[in-house]
Amino acid sequence: MPSHVANINADFKGKDIMTTNQFVREDVDIVLDEADAMAEMVNAEGRSDLLDDLVVANLFYEASTRTFLSFEAAAKRLGALTIATQGVEYSSISKGETLEDTIRTVESYADTITLRHPEVGSAAAAAAVSEVPVINGGDGNGEHPTQALTDLHMIRSRLNDIYDLKVTMVGDLKNGRTVHSLARLLSLYGAEINYVSPKELAMPKSIVDEIAPLSEQYQTENLEDVIADTDVLYVTRVQKERFLPEGGLFKEIRARRAYDKLKDSYLIDKQVMKKAKEDCILAHPLPRVNEIATELDNDPRAAYFDQVKSGMYVRMGLLALINGRTITQQF
Ligand code: CP
Repeated sequence: MPSHVANINADFKGKDIMTTNQFVREDVDIVLDEADAMAEMVNAEGRSDLLDDLVVANLFYEASTRTFLSFEAAAKRLGALTIATQGVEYSSISKGETLEDTIRTVESYADTITLRHPEVGSAAAAAAVSEVPVINGGDGNGEHPTQALTDLHMIRSRLNDIYDLKVTMVGDLKNGRTVHSLARLLSLYGAEINYVSPKELAMPKSIVDEIAPLSEQYQTENLEDVIADTDVLYVTRVQKERFLPEGGLFKEIRARRAYDKLKDSYLIDKQVMKKAKEDCILAHPLPRVNEIATELDNDPRAAYFDQVKSGMYVRMGLLALINGRTITQQF
């Protein structure tokens, strides 16, 4: 973790949200409780004026539907104004401006900045120069901390408990930033984690080693080895955008072949889910491509659209907390 990124230590005010390594269990619980209170408030009243004196900036230099729109909705439900850039082509980065200069500009306009960027470490680089808190909305194949908090919120909402779960992660565990963040947070609650992927897309050893003192972990290419004893089946897509290196036609052809070979490694459909427990949670951060058949969308175990709802509540909670405000006492 870069030295300028602070541990949360139960105090979110003014802090950047960069990595799940900033969190201990108590910090996660604070976010989930605040998200619960936000859900209750939205269901009762729709919106609040908690942040109505603030401007929130959303800088998204990589494609997004859920993270971008949920941060927009979260800010607006709390009364804040939002300013946004989507896509490098509409930003002066396309003219050669550095990320650091962009951040120094946006901090003059906004009280909080959320950044999605294709490069690992970009959010930390932004936080290093920003006078206002920066939230990592996904940095390349690095981390996606607000998605992991979202995933835990959905699981806790369904099970009322997130301790000692048996979680199976399936798919592109090398490039999927959501699983990197989620594995770290699950380890705080004593989860056993199974990693199911082709060897080429295995969970990075650095993360496996990091959480080994807290979590039992098992790697396999075969979902059948673990599905029957799984509480949460967390499926991810093969990240096509990480298979397209610049630098010559042959490299691009090789990358495309590698993607085509791996993209359909796992398909979760009704047949597969027959082997899962009746109360297994089927999760996916979305977007999905082919990994989960749409025939499962009405299966009560399918939780991926609940995850979407959790995303807005968690981001409302985080925006409130880093601005030193809370509604947990009211709702
Ligand atoms: N889960 C997620 O990050 O989705 P988006 O890429 O649509 O934001």
